[in-house]
Amino acid sequence: MASLDSIKQSVRGSDADVDGDDSGIIPADAGIDDVCDEEVETVRSLVAPHADGEGGIIPSLQAVQNEYGYLPRFSMQVIAEECDTTIARVFGTASFYSQFYFEPRGEHSVKVCTGTACHVKGADDISENLQEELDVETGEVTDDGQFTIEHVRCVGACGLAPVVVVDDDVHGPIEAENAPEIIDEYTDEEA
Ligand code: FES
Repeated sequence: MASLDSIKQSVRGSDADVDGDDSGIIPADAGIDDVCDEEVETVRSLVAPHADGEGGIIPSLQAVQNEYGYLPRFSMQVIAEECDTTIARVFGTASFYSQFYFEPRGEHSVKVCTGTACHVKGADDISENLQEELDVETGEVTDDGQFTIEHVRCVGACGLAPVVVVDDDVHGPIEAENAPEIIDEYTDEEA
């Protein structure tokens, strides 16, 4: 089994910089040395029930993402150690599946369908209006941590095109100019 120190040496980025993040969100590039021992132990406790060689990688990734909403780098270091494998293997596995995220995400995911049926009915305009309303680019988290906008391929609701899916709620058909109103339903004014 690789030692924790060797893993830290092998994957810790020289430019890791977690200072100045006062949002409470652990930066995506935070390595083991950048987070407190309690945070590392939290991940270790999440992973421990699944640690079973490389067969434990996916359930471990799922357990960590359920807790953090994404996969900070240090968590993949811990998974590698607990599953007796390499960081490259853990990262490669996570990269293969679209269900895993490597950046912090908003509390609500706003998925704009850009499949063919939605595209021809104005998905681009919907996306543009939502980005303007939330003041973020696709893939970013709003400053208040509430929303992330994503583009997804056909979600299987072409009869409702164009469609926006917020969390698990399908909205459609949507007029581009009315798209921002959808956000209001999910906005926590006190956040
Ligand atoms: S293309 Fe958007 S739901 Fe099918």
